[in-house]
Amino acid sequence: MTNRTFTIIKPNAVGLGHTGEILEIIEKAGFRILALKMVCLSRSDTEKFYHVHKERPFFRTLNLFMTAGPIVVAVLEKENAVADFRTLIGATDPAKAAEGTIRKRFAESKTRNAIHASDSNENAAWEASFFFTDKEILETTYQLPVSPEEIDKD
Ligand code: CMP
Repeated sequence: MTNRTFTIIKPNAVGLGHTGEILEIIEKAGFRILALKMVCLSRSDTEKFYHVHKERPFFRTLNLFMTAGPIVVAVLEKENAVADFRTLIGATDPAKAAEGTIRKRFAESKTRNAIHASDSNENAAWEASFFFTDKEILETTYQLPVSPEEIDKD
């Protein structure tokens, strides 16, 4: 079934100039980008977004890291999007991430792990709505309203 997932390219990957390369890997793996933007998280945004981790021992450093610079957030579509995208990014801990995964390549540690992915369809919908309105998630595909010759004639 075609469905959606949500991703964050995290501050280290954006800051080190890997955004384009990561988006290329994502598109080449067959994901369609339905929404995309660069934003900065505040401490309170991070607390809300990662509320499920609030009591975890790593929450403080996760918050410090996620507010350290701009992030790129995106909504992605593909068959089996949630599971396939988690496979594409690899394990949370880059030491355990499989060869060829995004985290194996770009993550620096468990916290500075380059990319986030939703872990269920329900969380994907909630996480997407944290950053995007329904109108900003574009279902439309590229379709010329006239022939290519007509578009190119001037
Ligand atoms: P992410 O997929 O964004 O979800 C929660 C984040 O917490 C995780 O990636 C890591 O960046 C961070 N984190 C840091 N330490 C841990 C840990 N021990 N277990 C899980 N997540 C951790």
